Amino acid sequence: MQILIENAGAQTGFLILENSGEWMIEAGCELNDGEKVCTTQVLQSIPMANRLPKSMIEYVIRTHESVILNDATREGNFINEPYIRHNQTQSIFCLPLLNQSKLVGVLYLENQLAAGAFTPERFSEGDATRTQVLHLLSTQAAIAIENARLYSNLEIKVEERTQELSQALKHLKSTQEELLQSEKMAALGQLVAGVAHEINTPLGAIRSSIENIANFLIENLEQLPTFFQQLTKQRQQDFFALLQKSTPQTTFLSSKEKRQLKKDLKRQLESQSIDNADSLASTLVNIGVCDDIQPFLPLLKAPDAQKFLKTTYDFASVWKSTKTIATATERAAKVVFALKTYAHYDQSGEKVQVNITEGIETVLTLYHNQLKHGVKVIRNYSEVSPILCYPDELNQVWVNLIHNALQAMDYKGSLRIDVTRQEPFVLVSITDSGEGIPPEIIPKIFEPFFTTKPAGEGSGLGLNIVKRIMEKHQGKISVESRTGETRFTVSLPVYK
Ligand SMILES: Nc1ncnc2c1ncn2[C@@H]1O[C@H](COP(=O)(O)OP(=O)(O)O)[C@@H](O)[C@H]1O
Ligand SMILES: [Mg+2]
Repeated sequence: MQILIENAGAQTGFLILENSGEWMIEAGCELNDGEKVCTTQVLQSIPMANRLPKSMIEYVIRTHESVILNDATREGNFINEPYIRHNQTQSIFCLPLLNQSKLVGVLYLENQLAAGAFTPERFSEGDATRTQVLHLLSTQAAIAIENARLYSNLEIKVEERTQELSQALKHLKSTQEELLQSEKMAALGQLVAGVAHEINTPLGAIRSSIENIANFLIENLEQLPTFFQQLTKQRQQDFFALLQKSTPQTTFLSSKEKRQLKKDLKRQLESQSIDNADSLASTLVNIGVCDDIQPFLPLLKAPDAQKFLKTTYDFASVWKSTKTIATATERAAKVVFALKTYAHYDQSGEKVQVNITEGIETVLTLYHNQLKHGVKVIRNYSEVSPILCYPDELNQVWVNLIHNALQAMDYKGSLRIDVTRQEPFVLVSITDSGEGIPPEIIPKIFEPFFTTKPAGEGSGLGLNIVKRIMEKHQGKISVESRTGETRFTVSLPVYK
C-alpha cells in the first residue's frame, strides 16, 4: 500500500476486502507529507459507511472496473455521493485488485488537496511506465492477498483439525478411563455374590444373638430384681467368678468333649454327695466350668444351687451374645469397608502415601469367600514403608493378578503373596500353583483383549490395565511361569 500510494501520488489509501460476505476496510495508509513517509494501519474489519464513498466502491466491486476522477465534486457519476460532498474530495483512484479476473479486493486512493492527481495524462507525461507499475503492483497485491487468504484458511483448517483431534483424544482418554472403570466394576460384579455371603454370615450371627438376648429378657426380667436382692456377699462373688469362666475357649467345645467333661464333673459332684449332680454338671459345663469346682462347693451344696446356676448361665450366654454381635459387626464392617475402598474412584489424580499391604488385604477380604474353601493363602510381608501412589489403581492391580491366579488354579491350590523391599523399590509378587502360562503366549498376555478364557470369564483387559497402571507409577511388571508355579512380580519405586 505504501508503494502504491507513493507511486500513484495519493495522500491516503484504503484496502477493502471481503470478509464473510461483507466488504470491509482492512487497512488504511496515510502519507505524511512533511516527512514523506507512509504510516499504515491494519484495521479490524471496519464498515465502509461514512468513511469512504460506498457507492463508488460498490460500483468497482460490481463491474471490476477502475474509477479515476480528477475532481470528484464536479465530474463523474458520484457527485452526489455523501462522502464526496462532505469531504470535498478531489482526486480519487479506485481500482479493483484482480487475480486472474477474480476480484480479491479493492484499493481506494484519494488526494483531497490536488485535482487531477491520478489522471492518465499525469502518468503518461511524467513517467510512461507508471501505469504499468501500478497495474503490476495491484496485481501483485491481489496475488499476495489471495495467498494470505488461502494460508489463513489453511491455518483455520489446521486449527479446526487440531481441535477435532484433541477432542477425539479427550474422548479416547475418557473411553479408556471408562473401560478401566468398567473392568473394575466387572471384577466387582463377580465378587458381589461372594461378598453378599460374607455379609450375610455375620448378619445371621447377629440375628440369633439378638434373639437369645430377647429371650433372656422375656424369661428373666420379672424375677431379676428378686434374684439380685437375695444375693449374699458370697453369692455375688460366686456369680462374677462363674461369669468369668464363660470364656471363648469353652464355647468351642465339641459335644463329645462336653459329654466327657460333664461325666467327670458329675462324678466329682456325686463324690461330694451333692443332689441333682446330673443337671448341675450339665449347667456347669455350659457355663464353662470344666475342672476345678472346689471354689464353688458351698454354692453347689445349697438347695437353690440349680436355680442360681441356671440364671447365671443365662447371663453368661447374654454376655456371649454381645461378644458375638461385636465380632460379627466388625467382620461385616470390614467387608463393607473393603468394598467401598475398592469401588471408590479417586479422580483427584493426586498420588497419596499408602501402605501397600493394606491394599492387598482389602482385596483379600473381598475375595475371602472364593478363597476359604480350597485356597491356602501364604502371606509373606516384610515391613515396608508407605509409598507414594494412586491407591485405587494399585488395588485394581492386586484384583487383576489375584483373580487371574485363582482362575488359573480353579480356586484350588496355594496363593503366595510376597511383599519385599529392594531399594529403591517395593516388590510385590503373587504366585499361584496353577497350570502355568505356555511360553509361546507369554509375549501376548499384556496385549489388550488377549485372552485364553471363554467369553464371560475373561475380557483380556486385566493384564493390559495392570501394565498401564504400572507405567503410570513408573514401575515394572514381570512374569515367570512353569507348570504349578506362576509368579507375577510388580516393582514400584518408593520415592516417585
Ligand atoms: N496366573 C496366571 N496363570 C496362567 N495364565 C495366566 C495367568 N495370568 C494371566 N494368564 C493368561 O493371560 C491371559 C490374559 O490375562 P488378562 O489380561 O488378565 O485377561 P483375562 O484374564 O480376561 O483373560 C489370560 O487369558 C491367561 O491365558
Ligand atoms: Mg484377568
